[in-house]
Amino acid sequence: MTDTLTFLGLESSCDDTAAAVVQFHGGRGEILASVVAGQTELHAPFGGVVPELAARAHAEKLDLCVEQALARAGVGLANLDGVAVTAGPGLIGGVLSGVMCAKGIAAGTGLPLVGVNHLAGHALTPRLTHALAFPYLMLLVSGGHCQFLIVRGPESFSRIGGTIDDAPGEAFDKTAKLLALPQPGGPAVEAEAAKGDPGHFAFPRPLLDRPGCDMSFSGLKTALLRARDGVMRDGELRAADRADLCAGFQAAVADVLAEKSRRALAAYLSEGPHAPAFAVAGGVAANKAIRAALETVSAAFGTAFIAPPLALCTDNAAMIAWAGIERFRAGGRDGMALSARPRWPLDEAAPAMLGSGKRGAKA
Ligand code: KG4
Ligand code: ZN
Repeated sequence: MTDTLTFLGLESSCDDTAAAVVQFHGGRGEILASVVAGQTELHAPFGGVVPELAARAHAEKLDLCVEQALARAGVGLANLDGVAVTAGPGLIGGVLSGVMCAKGIAAGTGLPLVGVNHLAGHALTPRLTHALAFPYLMLLVSGGHCQFLIVRGPESFSRIGGTIDDAPGEAFDKTAKLLALPQPGGPAVEAEAAKGDPGHFAFPRPLLDRPGCDMSFSGLKTALLRARDGVMRDGELRAADRADLCAGFQAAVADVLAEKSRRALAAYLSEGPHAPAFAVAGGVAANKAIRAALETVSAAFGTAFIAPPLALCTDNAAMIAWAGIERFRAGGRDGMALSARPRWPLDEAAPAMLGSGKRGAKA
């Protein structure tokens, strides 16, 4: 196999339409271009992603994103070695838009087509950004996902725990909504939390009393609603109470993620990995308090802590192009029979996860 590979990647599984060109050379990956067209404004009036609107917007924007990515990378279709596309999990209309676009390009050019699991894209990103060696521990924590994975190879993942209901980003977004803060909720809640007292309101630490790495976040929003209603007067919330509610909520999420990370690290380290590393991805990893808590846990175990740049932690197509290259190098190929899968667990052997949040099916 040639030692240089240039792949186009497409992503359209939720509310970001994205295309990227990534090159593998000398054993490492380089992003030649990465274009992301978000749909936040499109869905804002509805308080959540509307699947049909998302799918139509993806279908409209994908070819423009591809054109832009190729132009920015300075490559033509003839310079590519393959096309990688998110084939699931996610909102089916969006995934279909991407798969059809990729099939069109592959059929027109004769390029190999590689279907990629969106979660594998997130999970393999630290290899693109930090050339991390297998096996490493990954915490994927975003608006739609929350799981611990031991990443063993391009297509080998062991899920050792995850949320049984909401993802933490979803809980941050709901908290923001309940406190009349803007969306996306994470950054708004974090800014309020910085002004508040995390001990003022008592928040539960769900599932810490049970062994293992599974998590639950839906009870936190119920606790927040009760606490809010207890201090609201004539529909008004005092600024100090809002800040204390945010601080208490954020501290509870951070505590749960930190304790479950301790357990996940212990399980991972018990396998005796050669160069232990703990990597995070997903929008919630942008939260400074949560990131610091995870970093502290990792340091206590003497394990390297890896957080890719935020633009590569959130949804993008560079991670899809990269995961496509990894799969292709391992012999993975798909033909025109490639289908879109709304649910597609990374670890088929792990028990199915419960729940399906507003961001689509959790795998
Ligand atoms: O990874 P991402 O961009 O999209 C997916 O969910 O796939 O993550 C977005 C989520 C949102 O729920 C947002 O509120 C949350 O990440 N988020 C944060 C922060 N920044 C973004 N949550 C907590 N603190 C933040 N600073
Ligand atoms: Zn994602």
